[in-house]
Amino acid sequence: MTPARSVTIALTGASGMAYGLRLLECLVDSGVRVSLLYTQAAHIVAKQELDLVLPSRATDAERYFTERYKAAPGQLRAYSREDWFSPVASGSNPSDAMVICPCTMGTLAALAAGMSDNLIERAADVTLKEKRTLVIVPREAPFSVVHLENMLRLARAGAVILPANPGFYHRPTSIEAVIDFIVARVLDHIGVPNTLMARWGRGEAAAVTPAVDPTTPTTPTDRRP
Ligand SMILES: Cc1cc2nc3c(=O)[nH]c(=O)nc-3n(C[C@H](O)[C@H](O)[C@H](O)COP(=O)(O)O)c2cc1C
Repeated sequence: MTPARSVTIALTGASGMAYGLRLLECLVDSGVRVSLLYTQAAHIVAKQELDLVLPSRATDAERYFTERYKAAPGQLRAYSREDWFSPVASGSNPSDAMVICPCTMGTLAALAAGMSDNLIERAADVTLKEKRTLVIVPREAPFSVVHLENMLRLARAGAVILPANPGFYHRPTSIEAVIDFIVARVLDHIGVPNTLMARWGRGEAAAVTPAVDPTTPTTPTDRRP
């Protein structure tokens, strides 16, 4: 895979804002050029989940995240909902890859229908039509048939559906490690080198022997004769 040198990241109003922000941090750290977009609902979720007030204006967002993640001058650009003059709005200048993380069922539906009604939807549409990598990190539980059909439609159109659905075989001992599991998978799919997680089968990951003997009773009820 050709490593991405420019990545568009979109935050929408699904639970799991920490995934999106950690991804943004890792992208900046890796040196790629980042285009940042977020929806109105992302403001609400960021406040609810992280006590973070996302800047309302794109120029403020650019300044805030450039300082927060120590981006190089000009490395991180933010664009507003209807900035049709931004590079990501056109197939003549798309990013190498785009990630929507976390992705709501609402945005997912709009993408599946090809709405292009705001810059996130347009940039994703452009990413698909230009055959660049589009990674969608949906968050909902359970998924309805409508959600599943929308995901199938997008997967058939070339998107990578990578749900916020972390594994636990690496034995995470912190929320950060759980978040990094998903972020590492996203970075792998867009070709951004990372060492967030030990690679399975390289002797780096935890042994597969169970931490607790599964035959040992663990609850008082189990211990009853
Ligand atoms: C705290 C909070 C958590 C939410 N979590 C989800 C979620 O996990 N998945 C989802 O599809 N919508 C979720 N929603 C609802 C969306 O934010 C809502 O449908 C919104 O209109 C989506 O708009 P957007 O796609 O433009 O961001 C959540 C809303 C709030 C306030």
